[in-house]
Amino acid sequence: MLSLCLLLLAQAPDLHTATGTGGVIAAVSPPAVDVGIAVLRAGGNAVDAAIAVGFAEAVTWPEAGNIGGGGFMLVHPGKGKPPTFFDFRETAPAAARVDMFAGKIDYQSPVTAGVPGTVRGFALAHQKHGKRPWKELVEPAAKLARDGFPVTASLARRLNGVLGDKTRNEEFRRVFGKPGGGEWQAGDVLTQPDLAKTLAAVAESPDAFYTGEPARLLAAEMTRSGGLITQADMEKYQAEERTPTCVTYRGRDVYGAPPPSSGGVTLGLMLNMLEGEELARHPRHSPETVHRLTEVMRRAYCERAKHLGDPDFVTVPTDLLLDKAFARRLAAGIDPAKATPSAALADEIPLADGGSETTHYSVADRDGMAVSTTYTLENSFGCRVVVRGAGFILNNEMTDFNHTPGVTDRRGNIGTPANRVAPGKRMLSSMTPTIVARGGEPVLVTGSPGGRTIINTALCVVVNTLDYGMDARAAVDAPRQHHQWFPDRLTLEPSADIESLAARLKAMGHAVGSGRQGDAHSIRLDPASGKRTAAADKRLDGRAAAE
Ligand code: DON
Repeated sequence: MLSLCLLLLAQAPDLHTATGTGGVIAAVSPPAVDVGIAVLRAGGNAVDAAIAVGFAEAVTWPEAGNIGGGGFMLVHPGKGKPPTFFDFRETAPAAARVDMFAGKIDYQSPVTAGVPGTVRGFALAHQKHGKRPWKELVEPAAKLARDGFPVTASLARRLNGVLGDKTRNEEFRRVFGKPGGGEWQAGDVLTQPDLAKTLAAVAESPDAFYTGEPARLLAAEMTRSGGLITQADMEKYQAEERTPTCVTYRGRDVYGAPPPSSGGVTLGLMLNMLEGEELARHPRHSPETVHRLTEVMRRAYCERAKHLGDPDFVTVPTDLLLDKAFARRLAAGIDPAKATPSAALADEIPLADGGSETTHYSVADRDGMAVSTTYTLENSFGCRVVVRGAGFILNNEMTDFNHTPGVTDRRGNIGTPANRVAPGKRMLSSMTPTIVARGGEPVLVTGSPGGRTIINTALCVVVNTLDYGMDARAAVDAPRQHHQWFPDRLTLEPSADIESLAARLKAMGHAVGSGRQGDAHSIRLDPASGKRTAAADKRLDGRAAAE
């Protein structure tokens, strides 16, 4: 019996890894990956597929996939062409005030919702790079919402968790409660008729979301529940095309998310600090390497807290933060044998976390174009308010602004000026969609959810790949680590040897905890052979597929 089970296990298809010479996709939600692959097969490029996956996940992974939130899409066309970046981060409504979260914050309040950006972001990316008609990219999502889809075990668990006692919103319970009552089980079918109607309107025109019935229903929801977003806020929302950050690392170009994300700048600063070190002298999970990475993280996150915010509102010294000499000066302060107390780095700031509920997916097409998308509602299922009659969940992204001006504390609150609330401003993000290229061709596509841990998850995948030569599967599977300056604590992902590793790191002066980190659906590409491997992360759910 045991040998039969082992045989069956050995023969079970690995749905988390896919290799081919055509297009490949890695994402959290299996039905959304199917939608993306169908778009590639119909002749769509990586941007078309990424848009279709994004709309599909708004239906099939509702805790983070969204049309009521925002995010970022990094596009590398390959063939030496310049990469570009689409910013569809939410903005603060006109009625937002600098101290609206000071001293108190209710993550389920509709005042935490920013003006959603996803639909205009996808529309802008489509206008610049899309090949297939827009409608074809939205309709599969509308169909999934209308006809329903079987929930996975992971989605069932998440829905049951939030429906338990974690939402106060009646509409949320009506839309996501299991018909007839009881708990969701894997295989049950979830239909979302109101969302299907909204998506059908978006399929006709992306502007419908901002100027038509969905915007009217959103404004009515705000009036009813005490939120801030108006129809005028919706009409005014614009997605932006920006220049990605770029640093060179070990002979590759690493492209990342520019402000209003802190992702690309912080990742670039960490890589620049690491470049002077031959990391691979020590094994990846040796105390020496984990210590070096931790010290680099601590310093980069301190700079992040000092400087980063929406570049349309504050001056962000991106060039300085990505300057190799600046990184060398910061790295010179690292003691190879001892932890630096975080407080010792913070003299300019008067001293007074992240779950997994964003989602990242990676797409490459047969011509070598690569797309790295991370988008979010902020917390799991956002503020847990469903817009009545429109079927979509609202984000609580406003909580990414600094809560209390002037209060930066050792628990991790940041109160520096760059990321204070202002009407129309984008809140600082940690989302880090990343593409590594060599000679103008993408070789790695990665990114992750996880709040402030996101940037460090991307760092782990990049270092695993470029310093330690791991293949896509190993680079995604390997245990990760996180340090964010404050709280002054290193978090390690559980592994077989975590206890001895933690003991060595404690002896160096680190406070050490443990926890699961991120969900980094990634792709490796070999431009010479044309081989691509998509590695879906196994930490939550996940599916990888090849065209
Ligand atoms: O933009 C950001 O950095 C956050 N809103 C991402 C949130 C996230 O990953 C989920 N975890 N709390």
